[in-house]
Parts: sequence; structure tokens; C-alpha cells
Amino acid sequence: METNRTLGRSGIDVSPLGFGCWAIGGEWQDLSGRPLGWGKVDDEESVRAVHRALDLGVTFFDTADTYGAGHSERVLGRALGKRRADVVVATKWGNLFDEQTRTLNGQDASDTYVREALTASLARLGTDYVDLYQFHLSDAHPAHGARLRDACEELVREGLIRAYAWSTDDPARAAVFAEGEHCAAVQHALNVMQDAPEMLALCEELGLASVNRSPLAMGLLAGKRQAPQDTGDIRSRPPAWLRGFGDGTTADPEWLTRIDGLKEILTSDGRTLAQGALAWIWARSPRTVPIPGFRSVAQAEQNAGAMEKGPLTADQLTEIDQILER
Ligand SMILES: NC(=O)c1ccc[n+]([C@@H]2O[C@H](COP(=O)([O-])OP(=O)(O)OC[C@H]3O[C@@H](n4cnc5c(N)ncnc54)[C@H](OP(=O)(O)O)[C@@H]3O)[C@@H](O)[C@H]2O)c1
Repeated sequence: METNRTLGRSGIDVSPLGFGCWAIGGEWQDLSGRPLGWGKVDDEESVRAVHRALDLGVTFFDTADTYGAGHSERVLGRALGKRRADVVVATKWGNLFDEQTRTLNGQDASDTYVREALTASLARLGTDYVDLYQFHLSDAHPAHGARLRDACEELVREGLIRAYAWSTDDPARAAVFAEGEHCAAVQHALNVMQDAPEMLALCEELGLASVNRSPLAMGLLAGKRQAPQDTGDIRSRPPAWLRGFGDGTTADPEWLTRIDGLKEILTSDGRTLAQGALAWIWARSPRTVPIPGFRSVAQAEQNAGAMEKGPLTADQLTEIDQILER
């Protein structure tokens, strides 16, 4: 059984697993029409999946204002309803979008925009505070980061947020935010195919939680063998940062071969492949909190079920590194 985590120095207690709410935002796109969502989703099934997750002990949900151009926050807020106080809600700001046309249309890293974005997120989520507020622009200039960190401290003082984090894969940027008293975490990519030793070392050194996006390699580590045919799915036209789906017509054969080579270890002790991928993350560091995406009750049940089985062993981790030659 994997145990609960405390988000950095914040004292905020969360289940060892969070649920990532990008997919449940449904379809949206950039100004050129390129998909940014995960194709069509059924809102009623999303709400049922959130309820099932709550019943199975999941107390942490990660969304962003921009997912589905506001739709993910609305669906999550509706699903949580009266149970809002029982959970820890993380959302993000920094991207600009049009809710009506569901289009991403810019970015804003200014310190004045934070409050505007937060006000809109609170309304969509139907709450008066956000537990973990995350800056979404992973490559923004560190000087902007320092000003935003100070703006977040002010929001903490006002009781509008409890803690904050930068969503970035760059340890130097994460360290800029960590200088703030109420910075509790960094959100970054981590899965068995994409290790992040420097970021995990930084989390250890600075006492941050490591919130892990793409823990299932966007479905490949849950058994997906090819890019979705749905042209509204970002994996069918992957941007450069989206790894593993090749040019969108097929999954990257090298990734599939490597995942096949890990299958026996990841599915040990009756785990499904997805549960094994989450177990690798927990074994990697006790600071990790993977946030797998979901779009159905069945996925919610399977992913939440990983908590019962706990982490892989240290020997299994070493074996995996040997197979992947790292
Ligand atoms: N900060 C950022 O910039 C950023 C970037 C990416 C993600 N995130 C966050 O991280 C979360 C998760 O990362 P991710 O969206 O990259 O993807 P992921 O968690 O690696 O993969 C999620 C996808 O895998 C499939 N899946 C999940 N559980 C499954 C199961 N048990 N069996 C079979 N398939 C399963 C689902 O898609 P299908 O059913 O369609 O295959 C699901 O949407 C997001 O929801 C979001 O909250 C943040």
C-alpha cells in the first residue's frame, strides 16, 4: 500500500496518486486548428470517473484553466460539488484562450495577470480557494518567475491559494520558485521512459513535492500501441515536445520495443502495465505524486488500484535501468 504524501513544506496532505484532468477538458485547439485536447469525451462519464476516484481514496486533482479552454475546470468543479473541501485541487495559469471558440490564443507571464486568471479559475471550479496554483509556462524567463513567485505569496496571504508551484522541466526555474516560502512542488514530466534525476535531486534538496505529468507516456505505458485515429486528439498530430507517438500515424517503434522489454517487471505481482508504470514512479522517490490522465470509470479504477500494490522494489528499478541501458 502506497502511503499519502505531504506537498513539500506546505503541510497539505494528498493521496500518493493524483488524477490529471487534461483529457476530460475535451476538444480544443490552437489558432492554426491543431488539436490540443484528447478528442471527444463524455462529460457524464468524466463526472462518474471523478466520483469513483474519490470513493477509491484519491484526494488530489490536477487541472489547468486552459484544458478544454475552461471546460476541464468546469467539469471537475461540478464533479467535486460538496466534496470540494475533502480534496486538494491544483490548477494552472499563464495561457490565454477563448472559451467560446475553445481556442488557445496567447500567453501572459505578467504579475498582474495572475490574479485575473485565478479569479476566472475560481468561478469555473466553483470554489473560493485553490490548493496548489501552478505557473503553466514551462520556459518563461526566470526573472518573470521571480516576480510571479512574489505575486503568489501575496495570494497566499489573502487566502486565495494555499501553495504554488512552477510546471517546468528545468531544475533552475523550479529553484527560482522554491525560494518562496509557500512554494510546495514542481510539476514535471516523469515516467519509466523519461527519467528526471536532476529534478528529483532538486526536490530532495529543497523539500519540494515532485508532481509527475505524463506518468503513462500519454497512454503508451498503459498499453496503447498506436496513435489515435481521432483527428481531435493531440496524439494524432503531436507537437515536438510530445514523445513516443512519432509523426502521429503510428507510435514510435523504438518506444514500443523498450516498453515490451519492461513488461514482465512492470506487470509483476498482478499489476497491470499502467499500475506498474505508476509503481516505478513511487519507487523512484518518496516525493513523487504521479497524476495519470483518465477518461472513464474503468481507467479511474485501474489507476487508483495501483495505490494498493505500492512501489516496485529497488532491485526491480536496477533491473529496469539495465534493460534500458542507463
Ligand atoms: N503542466 C503541463 O504542461 C502538463 C503537460 C501534460 C500533462 N499534464 C498533466 O498531467 C496529466 C497526465 O499526463 P498526460 O495527460 O500527459 O498523460 P498520461 O497520464 O501519461 O496518460 C493518460 C492517458 O492514458 C490513457 N490511460 C490512462 N489510464 C489508462 C488505463 N488504466 N488503461 C488504459 N489507458 C489509460 C488515457 O488516454 P486514452 O484512453 O485516450 O488512451 C489517458 O488520457 C494531465 O492530465 C495533466 O493534468 C500537465
